[in-house]
Amino acid sequence: MVILIGGSGYMGSAFAAELHKRQIPHQIVSRCTTDYTNFESLCRLLEKAKPSFLINAAGAVGKPNVDACELARSEAVLGNVVLPQLISNACDISGVPWAQVSSGCIYSGAKILSDGKVRIEKDLTLPHVRQIVDDSPSSVLGYSEDDSPNFSFRESPCSFYSGTKALGEEVISKAKQTYIWRLRIPFDEYDNDRNYLTKLQRYDRVYDNVNSISHRQDFVHACLDLWVSGANFGTYNVTNPGFVTSRQVVEMIQRNFKVRRAFKFWKDDEEFYRLAASAPRSNCVLDTTKLLATGVKMRPVEEAMEESLLRWSSAV
Ligand SMILES: NC(=O)c1ccc[n+]([C@@H]2O[C@H](COP(=O)([O-])OP(=O)(O)OC[C@H]3O[C@@H](n4cnc5c(N)ncnc54)[C@H](OP(=O)(O)O)[C@@H]3O)[C@@H](O)[C@H]2O)c1
Repeated sequence: MVILIGGSGYMGSAFAAELHKRQIPHQIVSRCTTDYTNFESLCRLLEKAKPSFLINAAGAVGKPNVDACELARSEAVLGNVVLPQLISNACDISGVPWAQVSSGCIYSGAKILSDGKVRIEKDLTLPHVRQIVDDSPSSVLGYSEDDSPNFSFRESPCSFYSGTKALGEEVISKAKQTYIWRLRIPFDEYDNDRNYLTKLQRYDRVYDNVNSISHRQDFVHACLDLWVSGANFGTYNVTNPGFVTSRQVVEMIQRNFKVRRAFKFWKDDEEFYRLAASAPRSNCVLDTTKLLATGVKMRPVEEAMEESLLRWSSAV
């Protein structure tokens, strides 16, 4: 039996659906029925349910976006740092293996291969870097799980949200029997305020940048496959291999939906941060070699994106 914490949320509900589909017995735990943020009550739950695995899909994400965490700081620390630490302690005492849904937003930029050397570029909007992204995508390499976060409280600037996610990983980094599954900008075929494809269609102006992203169902599929296949515990970048620019995704939307309207873009970072955002945004490319080496399948990002647009449904 699997305990699913945060099963009411955007990612948690996708885990619940996949567990249901696979007929894996599970119990969804919500703060409104069991206060899993309280150590004693979480320990009591584990003692009673004796789960074989626990997934923590709970956390504090800023709504409507990460700027909200700049103000709701204690909520972000409690949800993204204290909660994983508390779950880790409870699972350790109870001997329950578990997984933390984390985020790739703890990095900025990508590694660029040039003249046989690899250098880090934290700002992928710089014209000379963007030219490499557009003209020579194979030279753009992602951060691996061995790279230290570079968009965190330890390496600023960062958003408060990203800072708490990096710290949340740090506090459980030595925990036994623990997976850290890094998600990045979820999207799928279901119209939803939280879906990257919905967001892009609704923005007055689009912020153009470069990112690795995760198809929501591909993500939960791959995560559960890691656990079911007995892959080594540890941290995994769980994104669809490759990366996309916002402009590429907008072009795919226009092509697939035969949208005539012209999408507007922010001119540059200066305009974006002056008029639309307060917290710095993480834009980054992640390397999925470690995930794929386990044998777990993840479609290339273009394929997952094209299929989501082909199957697009506003009904959900
Ligand atoms: N969505 C994204 O874009 C994204 C990207 C990368 C990583 N992530 C990570 O994925 C995890 C799930 O995100 P999500 O998008 O599914 O979030 P969500 O829709 O807001 O759901 C999160 C759930 O967490 C629980 N929760 C526990 N403590 C909380 C707190 N302090 N503040 C708010 N909710 C709290 C709530 O469930 P109950 O009240 O029912 O217990 C809530 O339904 C988070 O760790 C997030 O950082 C999300």
